[in-house]
This record gives sequence, C-alpha cells and structure tokens, in this order.
Amino acid sequence: MKILVTGGGGFIGSNFLHLLVPRYPDHFFINVDKLTYAANLFSLKDIEALPNYTFAQLDIADPQAVLAVFDRYAPELVVHFAAESHVDRSILGPADFIQTNIVGTFNLLEACRATWQPPARGLFHHVSTDEVYGSLGDTGLFTEETKYDPSSPYSASKAASDHLVRAYHKTFDLPVKITNCSNNYGPRQFPEKLIPLMMLNALEGKPLPIYGQGRNVRDWLYVEDHCEAIWTVIERGREGETYNIGGKSEKTNLDVVQTICRVLAEETGRPVAEFEKLITFVPDRPGHDLRYAIDTSRIAGELGWTPKESFHTGLRKTVQWYLHNQQWVEQVRTGEYRRWLVANYSDRVRLGRGGEIHFATEKV
Ligand code: NAD
Ligand code: TYD
Repeated sequence: MKILVTGGGGFIGSNFLHLLVPRYPDHFFINVDKLTYAANLFSLKDIEALPNYTFAQLDIADPQAVLAVFDRYAPELVVHFAAESHVDRSILGPADFIQTNIVGTFNLLEACRATWQPPARGLFHHVSTDEVYGSLGDTGLFTEETKYDPSSPYSASKAASDHLVRAYHKTFDLPVKITNCSNNYGPRQFPEKLIPLMMLNALEGKPLPIYGQGRNVRDWLYVEDHCEAIWTVIERGREGETYNIGGKSEKTNLDVVQTICRVLAEETGRPVAEFEKLITFVPDRPGHDLRYAIDTSRIAGELGWTPKESFHTGLRKTVQWYLHNQQWVEQVRTGEYRRWLVANYSDRVRLGRGGEIHFATEKV
C-alpha cells in the first residue's frame, strides 16, 4: 500500500513514521511536509534511509502541489497530521491556521476525490483534536456525540476541517475516518507545548510559566499510544466514523509541572527545590478551556484499544528521551536543525508552488 503521511516532520507524525515504517516494509510511506518552524527532519534520521520511505517538501495549502504529489504517487491511504497546532500562536496570528488547517485539508480532500475514482477506493484518515468540543466543567466527558464548541482559532480551524471531512463522506461518499485525541506528550515534541517547554526551561534554570492558577485540566496521552490508536482505527475502524482517543489521565497543569520537577530531580540527581522554585504564575491565556476529558468507550469497546503507558511511565520515558537526545534539543533550541536539513536533504524531492516537481539540489 502507498501511504501519504502529511506533517510527518512534526511531533506526532514523526512518531507515527518511526513506529510504522520499520514495521511494514511492504508499505511505501511518502511524508509530505511544508517544514514550518515546528518540523524537524532530524527527528526522522533513523528511518530516512529505509527503502520504503521518502520525503517531499510541500505546502498543503497549495492545491497544485497537492495534486502533483497525488499524480506522482497515487496514494491509497492518506494519514493527515499536517496542521498549525499551537493554541497560543493561533491567538497571536490565526491566518496560517485558516490556510493550513482548513484550506489545506480541503485541498487534500479534493485530491483524494480526483484520485479515487470508482472502482478505486482509498481511505482518508483525519487526525483531529478533542479541543473541537470546547471546554468541560468539573465533571463529564467528551463523547463522539458532544456538540462542537471550539474556543480558540486553532480549535475552530480543526473543527472546520472535521466538518469538511464528514461532508465529503456524506456528499461524495469519500472513504474517511476521523480521530479526536486529547493532549499528547513524548519524544520529539517542539518545546512550545507545556511538557517539553517546562522540561527544557527547568533544565536551563528559566521560569516555568503557568497560566492563571494552574487549575486547568488536560487528559494526557503518550504519543506512541496515540499512533497505535490511529493505526487501529485505520485497520479496523468503521468507515465514516469518529473515534475519540484519550489517556484516562486527567491532571491539572500545576500537577503536571510539579511532577516534571520531581522526575527531573530523580533523573538528574539535582534537588527538586532547584526546579520547583522556578514555577511562576503568569496571566491567563484568553479563552482558556478549563477542562478536557475523554470517554474512550467506543474505541475500547469496538476495537479493543487502550493506552499502554500511564502518565508516570510515559513522562519518565519522555524526560529520559530529552536528557539523552541533546543533539535534537540543541538543534531545536538554536534553530540549527533547519540548516541541518538543507545539508542532508539535497537529494529529496521537492514540490514548487506551481506544483512542479524538483529533485532539489538547491537550498530549501
Ligand atoms: P506539530 O506542530 O508538531 O507538527 C505539524 C507538522 O505539520 C509540522 O511538521 C509542520 O511543518 C507541518 N505543516 C504545517 N503546515 C503545513 C502545510 N501548510 N503544509 C504541509 N505541512 C505543514 O503538530 P503535532 O502536535 O504533531 O500535531 C499533528 C496533528 O495532530 C495536528 O493535526 C493536530 O491538530 C493533531 N493533534 C495534536 C495533539 C497534540 O497534543 N499535539 C492532540 C490531538 C490532535
Ligand atoms: P498546550 O501544551 O499549549 O496544549 P493545549 O493548549 O492544546 O491544551 O497547553 C496545555 C495546558 O498548559 C493548557 O491548559 C495551557 C497550559 N500552559 C501553561 O500553563 N503554560 C505554558 O507555558 C503553556 C505552553 C501552556
């Protein structure tokens, strides 16, 4: 099977490729990514030489570039991760979120529709978020029937993309599946999100900025568990269906940051007070959702998926990964990784804005 993965240079996409490219040597994986600030192809160095993997740089908001990659590879499965993904950035500048998350998803759906003319029938798997449901109060869980009520430009753009995916299924009979997942953490996450930001700031002795009073609750899921859940839905989920994914691991932000401090102290041998004294309460995020929590009974009951990692085992693995992967951390911190990829990806296929394909030797 030819599998097009969008956004494989980012956090969850790179973990997905790490798991699946070596596991399925008979499937061919095409990773397409615009390589925004959030991407890091160094994250893929362990798999980049495998014969069933290739990379093309492209912007999914460019319809001709998207069509060109479909013409070239005729993928049978699309796993759509590519997105602008950070709530705070969507508050500061929503425009890219509209282009990538809405227009980009639309372009992919159109390309799938054009490519999968009957009797050909592929599958479009849309990776989405629980944030489309808005905020819970102190009790209750998001189910697949919870009404959409997004709060941020990020979650509104993901909600719009979910609606488009469902509309293409209903109107054009496009084969689709959707997963809405809670907050992920794990290796290779860009340090603008809570967990890696706090880890790296703590190690550098910088403030640990907690919005408001740190009472907001998120449900945390180790990234590999999310990737396995997506693959389970692709293999055995019902077409046209939505599956919520979560870790049954609700924590307040303050609890998360204090746990990070404790695990860092244990792993480095430094006193926990050295990290905890960095905790700083800062003004709250506008429109800050109070609580997310997921009812996973559909994916658990129908498909037998449950997470393997608890928050404590997953967080320890994550802390150890960041401590042992200094080169990755250094590149993310300094921005050097962009130069690294230019030096190392000169033989990769690249798609221009007009959709033309370059076997690039020039700088990206
Ligand atoms: P990320 O920001 O780490 O990675 C996003 C990737 O998409 C990057 O490699 C980036 O270069 C690429 N990209 C951005 N704009 C693009 C464009 N126009 N064309 C092509 N590529 C583009 O994000 P992530 O955390 O890995 O999230 C992946 C997906 O999972 C997103 O759709 C997100 O909404 C969803 N999701 C994330 C979480 C989470 O906790 N991180 C939870 C649930 C769902
Ligand atoms: P984040 O990782 O940005 O994910 P999301 O907003 O998609 O849930 O934030 C997780 C929680 O941590 C959220 O409630 C906001 C909070 N937060 C802070 O308190 N301080 C920070 O510096 C960041 C980045 C997030």
